[in-house]
Amino acid sequence: MGDVAETVLQAEDLHFEYDGGVVALDGLDLSVHRGVRHAIVGANGAGKTTLFLHLNGTLRPKSGQVRVNSRPADYSRAGLTAWRQVVGLVFQNPDDMLFAGTVYQDVSFGPINLGLGEHEARARVDEALEALGIPHLRDRPTHMLSFGQKKRASIAGAMAMRPEVLIIDEPLSGLDPSGAEQFLGVLHELHTNGTTVLVATHDMSLAYQWADEVSIMNGGHILAQGPPTTVMSHSELLASCGLRRPWVLDLEEELETAGLLTCELGSLRCRADVLTAIAAAGVGVPERGARTIAVPEGLKHEVSSLGLQQVERPPGRRPRRFGRGSSGSCTCD
Ligand SMILES: Nc1ncnc2c1ncn2[C@@H]1O[C@H](COP(=O)(O)OP(=O)(O)OP(=O)(O)O)[C@@H](O)[C@H]1O
Ligand SMILES: [Mg+2]
Repeated sequence: MGDVAETVLQAEDLHFEYDGGVVALDGLDLSVHRGVRHAIVGANGAGKTTLFLHLNGTLRPKSGQVRVNSRPADYSRAGLTAWRQVVGLVFQNPDDMLFAGTVYQDVSFGPINLGLGEHEARARVDEALEALGIPHLRDRPTHMLSFGQKKRASIAGAMAMRPEVLIIDEPLSGLDPSGAEQFLGVLHELHTNGTTVLVATHDMSLAYQWADEVSIMNGGHILAQGPPTTVMSHSELLASCGLRRPWVLDLEEELETAGLLTCELGSLRCRADVLTAIAAAGVGVPERGARTIAVPEGLKHEVSSLGLQQVERPPGRRPRRFGRGSSGSCTCD
């Protein structure tokens, strides 16, 4: 994680109402630290998109202020142009972003507007199209793309600007599994290159696996900001915001309760980590006795895809338990 003292974007006590008096931001405070992967999680209508539109100057708060690289935001024409070179925003809906005739024209629009020469602009476009896996769509009309292809093209357009901060509203929505995986690779690459990445998502597992910092948003303000293991542990807080804890965190606690966790609590972030921990714990090795994991309701799908099987128990007697037999099939205690 970057230097926590260095804040690249800051929102201070933002208030905003849409026409008709809909309060969308209600005393929102947020610090986005340089070089950090930051996820804003919140239910539908929490105000995530409205916040993002404030963080690139599209919307102006009714009160409160945004700071960019510690300076108060400048809403003049020149100020907004400079702001958008620092902060790139990828909209939730790609149809709100794509406007040029072809993918190439769309993705090159920003770099050309920055005054880059044709050679440099083309290199940036090619790099972005490659990163998003869509070089073959280069000359396709944007209105003839599928939703996921439009999404990739819109992200490529923002990436080609090489902003200091890339803000992406619902990055994985509309992407197929391979698109989502590829895009996680792109996010990783951006982070490695020093880009600060801020995303809004409903996907708790994505936020938990990917982010260095997570902010929980509800009712137009941030209720908690901090490391994912800290802020995403609070089941009650999350439930009050219409959110659920990431399943990995639930399963990790189950492993710990069963005495099977061989690493520190908070170390498991994704499916691969869980599999490694289960293997390290020796679950299902007969001579190590009846070692099983009580899996919380709601995780059946994930657990069965880990190669574990549910064993039904009469209701009310004990939790359902899972284990893995020596043959690789599943057993229970
Ligand atoms: N153009 C608009 N005019 C009036 N109200 C709006 C407008 N856009 C959003 N709102 C309202 O502002 C509030 C915040 O909406 P916003 O789109 O920022 O939420 P969100 O967290 O991005 O939701 P989602 O997860 O569905 O994308 C909601 O109550 C919404 O109904
Ligand atoms: Mg939104």
